[in-house]
Amino acid sequence: MTVRRDAVGNVVGRYAPPGADGLPLVLGSHLDTVPDAGRFDGALGVLAGIAVVERLRSSGEGPESPVEVVGFADEEGARYGVAYLGSAAFAGLFDPSWLDLRDADGVTVAEAIRAAGGDPRDATSAPRPEAAAYLELHIEQGPVLEREGLPVGVVFAIAGQTRATLSLHGRAGHAGTMPMAGRQDALAAAAEIVLAVERVGRDGDGLVATVGSISVEPGAANVVPGEARLSLDVRHPDDGARAAAVAAIRQAAAGITAERRIGLEWVTLQEGGAVEMSVDLRDRLSAAIAAAGHPVRSLVSGAGHDAVVLGRICPAAMLFVRCEGGISHDPRESVAEDDVGVALDVLERTVRGQRAVRRSGWSP
Ligand code: HGY
Ligand code: MN
Ligand code: MN
Repeated sequence: MTVRRDAVGNVVGRYAPPGADGLPLVLGSHLDTVPDAGRFDGALGVLAGIAVVERLRSSGEGPESPVEVVGFADEEGARYGVAYLGSAAFAGLFDPSWLDLRDADGVTVAEAIRAAGGDPRDATSAPRPEAAAYLELHIEQGPVLEREGLPVGVVFAIAGQTRATLSLHGRAGHAGTMPMAGRQDALAAAAEIVLAVERVGRDGDGLVATVGSISVEPGAANVVPGEARLSLDVRHPDDGARAAAVAAIRQAAAGITAERRIGLEWVTLQEGGAVEMSVDLRDRLSAAIAAAGHPVRSLVSGAGHDAVVLGRICPAAMLFVRCEGGISHDPRESVAEDDVGVALDVLERTVRGQRAVRRSGWSP
């Protein structure tokens, strides 16, 4: 493949043997991970795309369309809080305001791009590419396939998600002399909010709500915390249910902070609605799974994926691979080679069925 690297660090391989023409079929997934992650979330999908191209090339029966394999940068949002920075830049959907986002060390996205030798303007000016379709192979990151004894599954839809940060402004003081009565302890208020988030999450059917990170200032053992900052991640397959849960959490946080005379600053970093995958591609993946002799299981993804973004510029679909215990975002992440073998066969069969597409003019 010819390989290029774009301004935000996406790595794009292109395979266009003689005779392959029309819009590219895009395969791939993300190369970044969460801190202390597993080895398969993202990377498996990139390697699977490369493996399929190897099979196409060695079989001598090239695909009708060019095939691009992309290793997307920064899908997780672990550094800047906003997910899909890489695939958004690839899809020509990068929000220029993201260039000003700062990481924990105060480094902006623009500075990070420059430090890597890129030009931030290229991130925001990338034209929307024409692609015939996008197919992503990914570990399920959940228990369904293992529970039902299935090697692979087809993603029906990807849950919507709301990401926010809550900053709490109390009053710092001497831990030994500040009376308990009347304290404006930002961490104690944050602790109540964390439990309120868990309660809302538990009460909602199909809802998940998580505070994944918390920071405290000044963070000394003998100082009453004056400042606290929480992350919030709320997801649901139904956008109305997610909005209602976010509103309930917001109301609970407002009540807790008012009661404790703590200032509350709520910043919504990202809101993304639930996304249904392409019916045609789902049908083709399902047919390939059946042809490989396996039952077809369709399931909703609670995890977000680059397919959410690519699905805004072309038909997109995902193939899930069983993962042990449904574990992900943890070094214990594991897949069975045989299951990956089934997934590669299904992906290759689906890619071979991709007819050449000239100008698509596709709209979601
Ligand atoms: O957070 C997610 O849903 C995915 O791992 N990016
Ligand atoms: Mn992930
Ligand atoms: Mn992932």
